[in-house]
Amino acid sequence: MKKTVLTGIKPTGHIHVGNYIGAIKPALALAKVADYQPTYFIPNAHGVTKIHDGSELRQLTYGSAATWIALGLNVNKAIFYRQSDIPEIFELNWILACFTAKGLMNRAHAYKALVDENHSNSRKIDEGIHIGLYTYPILMGADMLMFKADIVPVGKDQVQHVEIARDIAESFNKIYGPTFVLPESKIEEDTAVLPGLDGRKMSKSYDNTIPLFCEPKELQKRINKIKTDSLPPDSPKDPTTSILFMLYKEFASEAEIVQMQERYGRGISWGEAKHELYVVMNRFLEEPYETYKELMASPKKIEAILEEGAEKARAISKPFLQEIKEKIGLR
Ligand code: ADP
Ligand code: TRP
Repeated sequence: MKKTVLTGIKPTGHIHVGNYIGAIKPALALAKVADYQPTYFIPNAHGVTKIHDGSELRQLTYGSAATWIALGLNVNKAIFYRQSDIPEIFELNWILACFTAKGLMNRAHAYKALVDENHSNSRKIDEGIHIGLYTYPILMGADMLMFKADIVPVGKDQVQHVEIARDIAESFNKIYGPTFVLPESKIEEDTAVLPGLDGRKMSKSYDNTIPLFCEPKELQKRINKIKTDSLPPDSPKDPTTSILFMLYKEFASEAEIVQMQERYGRGISWGEAKHELYVVMNRFLEEPYETYKELMASPKKIEAILEEGAEKARAISKPFLQEIKEKIGLR
């Protein structure tokens, strides 16, 4: 039987190069493996934890869908859907909540970070934190367990959520017998955390991102903003500590990478290194960006693809939810 590879990126901001390298690129590679069933979705309900503007969330959801398609996800092979089109996920969310220890949520890192922040600013510990954010990992568990995900390609920060899903699944299975598959996270060791313009993790929260899709001029501008040291132009540079090189590696060919490494060794100016990075990034992104723009101009096309995906997904989620409900006595 094929293994299910499942992942999603919550549509709470414009997709940046960090999302691409850390999440989308590895997922696209796994989607091509013959023995794998890619099950990729837009977790727009997770988006509601942050975005409280209807048209903005809708646009971000389309943007995310268009990105996957533009980057070449084969939607015929994949089950590609929008989370909110699968009501069974939300029913399962409640059921799973009844098998989730509260302490597990207290330890979830996104919640803990906010509590710590409140604490250090002498605010009440739960100030500004809603239950949606607190129980975020349960809904994520429902996403994975509903589709019996075997492998979940994610960035490092999401590993804990996969562990939580395993815990919840085990609690349920212990009582009702083997029902849920325990998912396993898969992270790209090399590129687990891609740095942003300022050297910190590239993240929309730090405003240090390079958007994946933007006009070439904007791409150039962002690349020019990448922080470098003050070594003179012709002095040798260490590629292993350079943000520019880390990014370059992701978009260049093997031969180009070797050549660039040599140029660093001989001494390349940061200006040149930035230009070379722009060239390989633009070469790779040019065509997908055009497809992305076309799709964004006709959301009906995106809707049609997502509807088809939802049908495929519900062919799995409907009977499985019935089975679960029978087990626990809800039917
Ligand atoms: P952000 O940090 O911009 O808010 P998200 O938390 O929404 O990004 O991340 C979505 C996905 O992209 C996750 O799987 C996450 O691990 C991955 N990701 C985000 N930023 C990076 C990065 N700088 N390097 C590698 N992966 C990343
Ligand atoms: N939390 C993930 C993010 O921040 C999105 C997500 C929701 C997800 N459900 C998931 C990822 C299930 C993997 C598996 O982008």
